Amino acid sequence: MAPERSTGNRISAQDIRRRKGGVPIVCLTAYTYPIARMLDPHVDLLLVGDSVAMVLHGHVTTLGASLEMMIAHGQAVMRGSTKACVVVDMPAGSYEASAAQAAASARRIVNETGCQAVKLEGGVDMAAQMAAIVTEGIPVMGHIGLQPQSVEKDGGYKIKGRTHENVAALFRDAEAVEKAGAFSVVIEGTVEAVASDLTRHVAIPTIGIGASGDCDGQILVIDDMIGMTVDRVPKFVKEYANLRDTISHAAARYAAEVRSRAFPGPDHVFSATSGKDKA
Ligand code: KIV
Repeated sequence: MAPERSTGNRISAQDIRRRKGGVPIVCLTAYTYPIARMLDPHVDLLLVGDSVAMVLHGHVTTLGASLEMMIAHGQAVMRGSTKACVVVDMPAGSYEASAAQAAASARRIVNETGCQAVKLEGGVDMAAQMAAIVTEGIPVMGHIGLQPQSVEKDGGYKIKGRTHENVAALFRDAEAVEKAGAFSVVIEGTVEAVASDLTRHVAIPTIGIGASGDCDGQILVIDDMIGMTVDRVPKFVKEYANLRDTISHAAARYAAEVRSRAFPGPDHVFSATSGKDKA
């Protein structure tokens, strides 16, 4: 595990690590300054996920994310938050080649954003990369089970833990992530009972998404959770709001009022005598 880093008043990766088995850890993704400001008071951890490539940039998979994209969104989320532990995803192509590549990319992300930790996908296959980042003093979050960066290789978003061989591989991955020094691990798209067993098996907190209520914490993609997703919403998502309809209705009302000249009204224009200089 990386040595404790000073994080001011923020929740640190080590604080998250200490919450194993305690009050569930509340995590959401965030990609922008205003959303980070709105979420920060309510969550323990904000993940600048590479899902940003799909959610905000319209790519078909997370493979559309680049290091520059992750850094720009990481900077925005850091500006918009003061309390949460901010974790930035390492995009595909920035870490797989070698431990040295992973360490250099992680260093760049932390130096340019000031985030508390990085996350990367993989288990046994990425253990050397995770250990190298931890050796740099940078906390790492693992990500096992369904790994969106491997979706093309896997032939789709396939649920994990349905065969004996796959369950054994998941346990090996979880052990490898823990041994590499990760402070926590995301378990995605995995059979409920298997995710529950994995949570009991490792000493680091597990963060579930399409996994199990027994995980030490939960994460959702913010746009899914607030009903902003315009394409398919995964089964594991619970929509706590429907901003799709709210925005669509607002746009329809605005369009009607512009066309009928009801907007702008007297409150939204400046008279020569109102005396106010500021918009
Ligand atoms: O990129 C992302 O949003 C993620 C979460 C789904 C865990 O990795």
